[in-house]
Amino acid sequence: MQHDKVLILDFGSQYTQLIGRRVRELNIYSEIHPFNKIPKDIEDYKAVILSGSPNSVRGEAALHPDLSQIRGKKPMLAVCYGAQYLAHFSGGEVAPSNTREYGRANLSYIKEDAFFKEIKEGTQVWMSHSDTIKKLPTKAVLLASTNDVTNAAYKIEGETTYAIQFHPEVYHSTDGKQLLENFLVRIAGLQQDWTPQSFVEETVDAIKAKVGSDKVVLGLSGGVDSTVAAVLLNKAIGENLYCIFVNNGLLRKNEFKSVLKQYEGMGLNVKGVDASERFLNALKGIEDPEKKRKAIGNAFIEVFDDEANKLTDVKWLAQGTIYPDVIESVSATGGPSATIKSHHNVGGLPDFMKLKIVEPLRAIFKDEVRRVGATLGIDPELLGRHPFPGPGLGIRILGDITAEKVRMLQEVDAIFIDGLKSWGLYDKVWQAGAMLLPVNSVGVMGDERTYEKCVALRAVESTDGMTADWVNLPYEFLQKTSNEIINKVKGVNRVVYDISSKPPATIEWE
Ligand code: XMP
Repeated sequence: MQHDKVLILDFGSQYTQLIGRRVRELNIYSEIHPFNKIPKDIEDYKAVILSGSPNSVRGEAALHPDLSQIRGKKPMLAVCYGAQYLAHFSGGEVAPSNTREYGRANLSYIKEDAFFKEIKEGTQVWMSHSDTIKKLPTKAVLLASTNDVTNAAYKIEGETTYAIQFHPEVYHSTDGKQLLENFLVRIAGLQQDWTPQSFVEETVDAIKAKVGSDKVVLGLSGGVDSTVAAVLLNKAIGENLYCIFVNNGLLRKNEFKSVLKQYEGMGLNVKGVDASERFLNALKGIEDPEKKRKAIGNAFIEVFDDEANKLTDVKWLAQGTIYPDVIESVSATGGPSATIKSHHNVGGLPDFMKLKIVEPLRAIFKDEVRRVGATLGIDPELLGRHPFPGPGLGIRILGDITAEKVRMLQEVDAIFIDGLKSWGLYDKVWQAGAMLLPVNSVGVMGDERTYEKCVALRAVESTDGMTADWVNLPYEFLQKTSNEIINKVKGVNRVVYDISSKPPATIEWE
């Protein structure tokens, strides 16, 4: 079945991915492409959205694509930079603004339009721009203003072209989603039929068609993405899917056993491989964070390769790659740049494996992976798990890694995470974990002087891990957790809480 799709042209705004997600929340499929790489099959897109940008249309580096295949031919919504772009290059005028144009503003309507259907006048919108539109482009009709911004929304007569200075995609624009729906559904006439259920059915059919009766191998990590990918593949090809779950010795406390059990309960054909010793040996004496990552990555490839070689006739490798990993986005510093990440967990597969790749989640965002997972009946607890890095506790133990340090950190981490759960805080936090620091400090326990390790607790809120802020956990919780850790975990006598945001700090300490 063909779904209507929306093309989002990315001019480098920090919010471009949010536009994509909002559109998809309306059950309409959207794709993000760089502003200067209009897809060849442009005919297949039913509407186009131009994103914002950190650039100015007035500068020499103004991003200036050729929109002749789109403008006036397809419904188009221009957001922020997009609205200024239309003005600047089509007979209007854009200049630096001299009033504050960041944050909240309220819309006053100038002209009634289907664009504002169901949205009350005065609705809050979110502004974030330093240029302003002084004069509208040729044939423009002003639709709405705010106190500080006269030309806040306009349309072009004789075209289905709308332009807005504010950002409908951010949550602070209270009716932003309704506005996008008005444009895409009422005005552009798109169908809202792209649902998690339709995604599952179509993806299962597509996997069957692609893979046929070939065998597929997949590395499970215990995380959401690889699990949802596995369940989708299992639905499509059943026993021909061979899952491998490797214990690298750097998992959370009891995680290997409990996750393996959970997978078996889900009917997956999964083999658990306990390679803890191999990993710990490979890591012996290594202190440098990058070298640790490499050592873990290489050990993983070796284990995975050994296991895959035991299977005969495997032709495909399945991966849980998701959409943010494949979007080519425009960098904020100017020209378009490919920001495709190398695969964290697998660290690039050796050529000799020669497997074809199948990635059933390539087209969807993390929150959509969760919804697809729910549609597939996967346990909500598994779907709600915090992200956990591929190298596991290996990048949370600063300095060299030993079995004793892993044990210590597993205990600390378990107390912290279980505490978050029992205090009802786990789901309010995007990611949490503990770091074992290479620092000994003096303490007293009973009448004894101690000289033991210090651990740092970290809990952050985020949407995608790209930026993050520390969570203001209740003091009482921190107090109880700290006491419990120091009382129960031998070798730890001090607990600190990390209050750094990302940037400039990262979420993991290594
Ligand atoms: P940072 O530390 O870069 O982390 O702020 C951002 C997010 O990425 C996760 N992370 C990793 N995940 N392999 C992974 O699979 C890795 O090597 C890795 N390094 C960081 C981190 O847990 C956070 O969610």
